Amino acid sequence: MNIENIIKKYGTPSYLFDLDILESRLQFLKSKLPYDFVYAIKANSFVLPFMASKVERLEICSSGEIDICAGLKISSQKKVISGVYKEEEYMENLMNEEVLRYTIESLEQYHLLTHLAHKRKKKIHLLLRLTSGNQFGITKEECETIIQDYDKDYLVIEGLEYFSGTQKHSLKRIEKEINYLQDFINHLKNDLHFSVNELEYGPGLPIYYFQDDDFKEEEFLTELNQLLSKIEPKLYLEIGRSLVANCGFYITKVVDMKTNENGNFVILDGGINQLVYYGQTMAMKIPYMEQIPKRNTIINYNLCGSLCTINDILVKNVNLQELKINDYIVFHNTGAYSVTEGISLFLSHDLPKVILKNKDKDMLVRDNFKTSKLNFPKIEE
Ligand SMILES: Cc1ncc(COP(=O)(O)O)c(C=O)c1O
Repeated sequence: MNIENIIKKYGTPSYLFDLDILESRLQFLKSKLPYDFVYAIKANSFVLPFMASKVERLEICSSGEIDICAGLKISSQKKVISGVYKEEEYMENLMNEEVLRYTIESLEQYHLLTHLAHKRKKKIHLLLRLTSGNQFGITKEECETIIQDYDKDYLVIEGLEYFSGTQKHSLKRIEKEINYLQDFINHLKNDLHFSVNELEYGPGLPIYYFQDDDFKEEEFLTELNQLLSKIEPKLYLEIGRSLVANCGFYITKVVDMKTNENGNFVILDGGINQLVYYGQTMAMKIPYMEQIPKRNTIINYNLCGSLCTINDILVKNVNLQELKINDYIVFHNTGAYSVTEGISLFLSHDLPKVILKNKDKDMLVRDNFKTSKLNFPKIEE
């Protein structure tokens, strides 16, 4: 089904995630980076019914994400329970599952999981998350303390996890991180006789969102692979954005138009509450998008959302084919984070529908959701 039929069937604003595009993206990334993949589900949980069977592991970072995976009956073998806040109740409930793999983000978490493993007489697998100097992970010294102290009857320390940020364009920075990690792995082996079996590493793979972005992805990935191939332990690549960004389309409708001394303003039924492009500043960059229908005359527009803030501009000063009320603008590359990261409660607009499609069928996987329910002060009589 093409996008016009999707609009007719489901209306706007809506998110459409194309699973055929996702499949090709996954195959492309696998061909360039032949490692096991850990999908960071925070980037887009709606594609999980497809993704869960295609990647080796899923990175789960909150009790809400644990609930989503439970609802989808995702095998515990796939799960890496991560996140800076691990709620005791949830961690204890997870102890009923078969293979348990957790990252350790603090000594507090280490003690909690040790306690729960003892209490439930369960062997659990740990990855120690090495900090990159922020609130995440633990220091090298804390890793060493754990490695020298842990109870081998209940804990298996599989190795390390490292993630220092998203949308990283600099291979130099990634190379520095890889050397840093390999040096530490060597030190643990040589000085503490501890061998790191696994490294789960999130390189923060970048996506080119804007029309003037100068990014040669194939070359970037080839060079990245050369760097990654130097890592000795088994490598798991933790990826979110780069896997799912290009399968997503955010479909909006032109609901009003006006002109004043500062230009032509188009009001869309979506906005910055539902669309997040990393690196977009003051709406100055032009994302990839398409217009429905197409027209010949070219006119300069400012594309605005429907929030009560002058910041709700999606694209400023862009030359487009002439637009009319009830036309559609489809924003591309919106598969990562837009659906979860927007300020979606502002102004109590409904959350958009979410649609999955492949070449054979389309499916509504979330209906519109009234956020007015969430912003409503319920006073008990
Ligand atoms: C620990 C961790 N791993 C992986 C990711 C995914 O990063 P990206 O979307 O840049 O691939 C994130 C994103 O915040 C993260 O926090």
